Amino acid sequence: MGKMTLPLLRKKKGHEKISMVTCYDASFAKLVEKSGVDSVLVGDSLGNVIKGESNTLGVSISEMEYHVKAVKKGIATPFFIADMPFGSYQISLEKGLRNAVKLMKAGAEAVKVEGGAEVAKLISKLTSFGIPVVGHVGLTPQYVNKFGGFGKRGKTPEDWSFILESAKIVEKAGAEMIVLEGIPDKLAEEITSILKIPTIGIGAGKSTDGQVLVLYDLLGMDSSFNPSFLKKYADLDEIITNALKAYGADVKK
Ligand code: KIV
Repeated sequence: MGKMTLPLLRKKKGHEKISMVTCYDASFAKLVEKSGVDSVLVGDSLGNVIKGESNTLGVSISEMEYHVKAVKKGIATPFFIADMPFGSYQISLEKGLRNAVKLMKAGAEAVKVEGGAEVAKLISKLTSFGIPVVGHVGLTPQYVNKFGGFGKRGKTPEDWSFILESAKIVEKAGAEMIVLEGIPDKLAEEITSILKIPTIGIGAGKSTDGQVLVLYDLLGMDSSFNPSFLKKYADLDEIITNALKAYGADVKK
């Protein structure tokens, strides 16, 4: 497989589904590279799975740069996206631009921001300077305090319309792709049919142009984490715990 690029990903819309996975370090990145997955996201979900926090708000731009550099060492082929963490783009356009540049210099090929109308100017600014942007609407974890948790969005007609309009605004502003998280399947289907850019779903049904999962979730690193949308492709919780138990026992012997 040759290097995956944005134009190639965009051509897949309507023809072939796009696979995306999160990644946070070089060792896993080497395995992701071997898998043939289309795209890799250094998600601010590293706040949860790497830092052990209950949300993503504490993730800093320097932490993102650190993980982007590490992942970059292990991947060559997948299209490479980095999350703009909370606080790195909300304060001013200038700060958003400066922080996006940091992630691009660290090795990212695009940045992802959460929100709709409130990030439209930023998306236009970044894209005008050659920094591709991936949008993210629906369940947007950086808004956890506004919504009072990580519940599914788009359940009322008002919220449905709000998310649909946000997706349209994000596309109009110049985003190259958009993540649809935690919304009804039918809403994801509607957005996917209206937008020209690829939609990447997580907990948004099967109609999106692609799917993204958190690496540690799909590998089953935590047997107690079982959201309804999550398909686990391995049980690393059991495999790793048993391996460590066997190692401990061998050492004792
Ligand atoms: O931070 C993250 O991992 C994400 C994906 C779940 C889309 O935003």
